[in-house]
Amino acid sequence: MEFDIRNRELAKSGSHRIAWAERDMPVLRKIREDFARDKPLSGIRLAACLHVTTETANLMKALKAGGAEVSLCASNPLSTQDDVAASLVVNDGISVYAIKGEDNDTYYRHIHAVLDKKPHVTMDDGADLVSTLHSRYPEWVKEMLGGTEETTTGVIRLKSMAQKGVLGFPVIAINDSQTKHLFDNRYGTGQSTLDGIMRATNRLFAGSTVVVAGYGWCGRGIARRAQGLGARVIVTEIDPVKALEAVMDGFHVMPMAKAAPLGDFFITVTGNIHVVGSDAFDVMKDGAIVCNSGHFNVEINIPYLESISVSKSVLRDFVEEYVTRDGRKIMVLGEGRLINLAAAEGHPAQVMDMSFANQALGAAYLVRHKKSLPKDVLTLPEEVDQEIASRKLEALGVQIEKLTGEQKEYLASWEMGT
Ligand code: NAI
Repeated sequence: MEFDIRNRELAKSGSHRIAWAERDMPVLRKIREDFARDKPLSGIRLAACLHVTTETANLMKALKAGGAEVSLCASNPLSTQDDVAASLVVNDGISVYAIKGEDNDTYYRHIHAVLDKKPHVTMDDGADLVSTLHSRYPEWVKEMLGGTEETTTGVIRLKSMAQKGVLGFPVIAINDSQTKHLFDNRYGTGQSTLDGIMRATNRLFAGSTVVVAGYGWCGRGIARRAQGLGARVIVTEIDPVKALEAVMDGFHVMPMAKAAPLGDFFITVTGNIHVVGSDAFDVMKDGAIVCNSGHFNVEINIPYLESISVSKSVLRDFVEEYVTRDGRKIMVLGEGRLINLAAAEGHPAQVMDMSFANQALGAAYLVRHKKSLPKDVLTLPEEVDQEIASRKLEALGVQIEKLTGEQKEYLASWEMGT
């Protein structure tokens, strides 16, 4: 079996942590049991490009139980947990190609390593597998059953491929399931982003000013949690509806250039490029801390900051200080890569349970429908969302109401008024 990981000796620690996450993943656990019985992925080669975390390990184990031959590479150079990679190789016989801190060449060598296995199904977080397949393995595209995509940025890239008519197989936008973005993006990113900043800096949020760029699913979660820690929160947005929502949720809303001199912490979660750029860096106050939780490391214009700096030094793990020509010190965390995975452990298992239930069921859905699905970006049927939410509620011991016959009739009628 081929693999490329930091150190096999780390497997024991990895397996303990994977088991810890599994305790909080009852929905995925049930799917793994079903998969072990029904083998819906039998004979399928599945290539995954995901953050190599304890929760991902549980997903890989479920896919393998379902009969898939699984290989895994990292979806970000800084997000791999080396002990998890070791445990998957040593204890589960899964080909993993991921090393925390790998350089760009190694990152892409690992992507090629999983694609060289000629997968039938891809599982992406950011669409790097699908885009590399189309550009470098065009002859294999027609053999594919399809792919799944975890995150907002990946879905945007794939929709652009579909619109331009170049997407060669169906891809399920896992992010678009309600049981994914409502929980993972909001509560998961909300908590783990602040966790990453706290672990990296050990700074106090209470009394500080936090600027959150983007008030989408992730931004809402981060802003609310920063406020809960006692911070004054400023939101920046380009969408008037989201900006209005932020105002009514009680946040200050203003352009980045105006927020820049006020902020102690800057957190970008837009999926867009250079959201913190020259207009912000030129007026940011001495001591400001800047980080990103969006998918790619393009949200902060680090090259610009470098161009106005006279020195750069590492102060702590994941904290790099730039001294600007006018003497200000500006700290960038985790090289501008998603801070919740670079400096912390990513989302808690409780939310990844639902995200990865969608991933596992998405892979089975692609296999079940063979090649009958359109070459487009698709969402899982609503029943899958309902099923995952019901299973999660059941695991939490929460019961809900059922519609009575009279209520069903009332909701279906138009005749009944006042
Ligand atoms: P979303 O589409 O719900 O929200 C993004 C928001 O940013 C939108 O409201 C948009 O109007 C706003 N925006 C775009 N350009 C902007 C600009 N220049 N200034 C201010 N606001 C701007 O997306 P979502 O789901 O919140 O995801 C955001 C990013 O986070 C994506 O890159 C996504 O892939 C990533 N993500 C990261 C996770 C993590 O673990 N760190 C987890 C989930 C998503």
